[in-house]
Amino acid sequence: MKIILQSILFCLFITQSTAGQPAKLPYKNATLPIEERINDLLSRMTIEEKAGQLNQVSGGAFTGPALNDPGQKSKMEDVRTGRMGSFLNVSGVVETKAIQKIAVEESRLGIPLLFAMDVIHGYKTIFPVPLAEACSWDLKLMENSCSIAAKEAAAAGLHWTFAPMVDVSDDARWGRVVEGAGEDPWFGALVAAARVRGFQGKTFDDAHILSTVKHFAGYGAVQSGREYNYVDMSRQRLWNAYLPPYQAAVEAGAASVMNGFNTFEGIPVSAQPYLVGEVLKKKWGFKGILVSDWASFDEMMSWGYVANQKDATEKAMNAGSMIDMESRAVVKYLPELVKEGKVSIQHVDDAVRRILRIKFQLGLFEKPYGYSDEAREKSRIFTAEHRMQAKETAKRSVVLLKNQNNVLPIAAGSKKIALFGSHANSGQSALDFWSGAGDARQLSTLESGLREDFPTMTYAKGFQDNGASDPSLIKEALEMAKQADVLVIQVGISGALAGEDRSVAFPVIGENQLELVRALRTTGKPIVALITGGRPLVLTQLEPMVDAMLQCWLLGTETGHGVAEVLTGRYNPSAKTVMSFPYAVGQIPISYRVFNTGRPLPPAGGDSTWKSRYRDIPNDPLYPFGYGLSYTRFEYGTPSLNAPTMKPNGSVEVTVPVTNSGSREGEEVVQLYIRDHVSSIVRPVKELKGFRKVSLKAGETQTVRFTVTAKELAFLNAEGDPVLEPGKFSLFVGPNSKQTQELKLEVNP
Ligand code: BGC
Repeated sequence: MKIILQSILFCLFITQSTAGQPAKLPYKNATLPIEERINDLLSRMTIEEKAGQLNQVSGGAFTGPALNDPGQKSKMEDVRTGRMGSFLNVSGVVETKAIQKIAVEESRLGIPLLFAMDVIHGYKTIFPVPLAEACSWDLKLMENSCSIAAKEAAAAGLHWTFAPMVDVSDDARWGRVVEGAGEDPWFGALVAAARVRGFQGKTFDDAHILSTVKHFAGYGAVQSGREYNYVDMSRQRLWNAYLPPYQAAVEAGAASVMNGFNTFEGIPVSAQPYLVGEVLKKKWGFKGILVSDWASFDEMMSWGYVANQKDATEKAMNAGSMIDMESRAVVKYLPELVKEGKVSIQHVDDAVRRILRIKFQLGLFEKPYGYSDEAREKSRIFTAEHRMQAKETAKRSVVLLKNQNNVLPIAAGSKKIALFGSHANSGQSALDFWSGAGDARQLSTLESGLREDFPTMTYAKGFQDNGASDPSLIKEALEMAKQADVLVIQVGISGALAGEDRSVAFPVIGENQLELVRALRTTGKPIVALITGGRPLVLTQLEPMVDAMLQCWLLGTETGHGVAEVLTGRYNPSAKTVMSFPYAVGQIPISYRVFNTGRPLPPAGGDSTWKSRYRDIPNDPLYPFGYGLSYTRFEYGTPSLNAPTMKPNGSVEVTVPVTNSGSREGEEVVQLYIRDHVSSIVRPVKELKGFRKVSLKAGETQTVRFTVTAKELAFLNAEGDPVLEPGKFSLFVGPNSKQTQELKLEVNP
């Protein structure tokens, strides 16, 4: 009896703090290990509250269709009753704090919310679109812009971004190519990891946010480049051509992964057991959180894969999915599915555990408003330093495609410029759908940016936004052109046609724009084309009509200033395209990673009958992957290998002397490709496996080195395991994927 009394007294004692207050519940006690706190919290949660943690809805803008939206009042009630784990599209210190307060102070267990948003290439300071930035081949630069984006987002109350998008794609019809790193999986993997590092940093702190690798997996291969379409391919193709960037991002520690909208092997990927269960969780050991894409659980009904939302919840959960974004299916049906034994509580607990772990790691239980600090919001967002970095990134993303007779650069103030183009003076058209909190009014447009260097510059639209032919605009442009030394024309498409839901059948320069260029050509004045848009366009008609072409993409806040740096020559362009520029629409999708086929086209001059070719156009794109010019010239000497053979566990070294034979300093991206000549699965004729970005002074020569090991030569089998088969290989070195010099290598068993 005495012992029992003593234990009761002891228990009373330990649940009282020294001040006589009740002691903290274990999950609220920051001195306990996180796993212990999670166990305690899980043990207190009802199945409804667990399902709530897996529920995510938009609390602000709709970045998808407004399905079943119950309105803000009902969403807040869900927060209050523990039926909500996270929000997307709520940002700003005031907004996030107000909602967090309900979760923390009014819900039964006080579990804080996560706030997420698509911070894709900047929050308020907008960097070049990811595709453009990837053309810099500068991983540090990309890491840095993500880190600035994270810093701004975290100061606006956000914990989590839905980026990087790492879908490999070679289809310029697909609007979402703008969000990725282009057509190459090996390069895409390096970029994916750099972007994850940038967003997340080394530790969870208020200068970083959680990253999300998306859209898992294979979304870049959507049939016909049409958004939300199906994907079908073999597992070996998936592993070799699409999965490397997702894997690299997961290995770099990405906190979350997002499912795609597509199918794989006939199953919508949100419920794809192979991708989610086998690859992501088992093979890669992913420990983070998996979030669906916008209403993608619900969309399984339209796909014809499930009959109703309950069925969708069951299939998605049993495949290993976790958070339900915007379907509101899980919160509704998970409790009964668990009670009926159709979804295991172990899976639910595992998913909730992962989400809670992140919330604990972010310190949200101790400081739920830690990311919602007004002073920080004011001082960290859109700073002069961030804008300067955006300008640096912009100038390094511009690809010089053509420069006949060295029309470029044009020193500031040295010539009278006439600028044309209906998007050239519009901040709005320089921004794409994923421009965060970017403000078009604070953007340096092509017109405002160039005018700082060319104060006498004149400007006229020259063509209509809507693609219609307008002779009066052409007439006005011609008059203006007569007074100028150089004609600079913005052509291409606006940011409004870049991103999700922006597939087009004709990624081309509009006829009305070509009409303007044709008219301006009659003046005999040099023409410089500034090409805008979030994808490579077919430039085959434009190219012979202009003297110079700068692929400007969509460069964000510092668009005009960035382009001015390149146009004036203050920056010598060094970017190289990471997507092939198609010769014609009919070539799309097109990548340099083609297969030889059983009937390869012989080199120019050979007999081309009964060969794999187009009858009406060349097989090659207009500009290949890796292509881009400089204002100086780089000459490649003869490359060499330190040994003609290697063992599978050995390595060889490739060296190539590169000389800057022009008259100014410049940077060159030296590229290394491989080919495996005989293999148990056919392999592309070239695969990028190395690059070095080197800076060379005028007249300087540098020897560029690459080490080649089994890692570079192997392929992945259908289980995702690397296989190196001995035999003949070629190594290629050059300035782009087309103009390369070949070295022979034999791998001996
Ligand atoms: C897109 C995702 C995005 C999500 C949330 C979806 O429609 O596919 O990339 O992260 O919306 O905005």
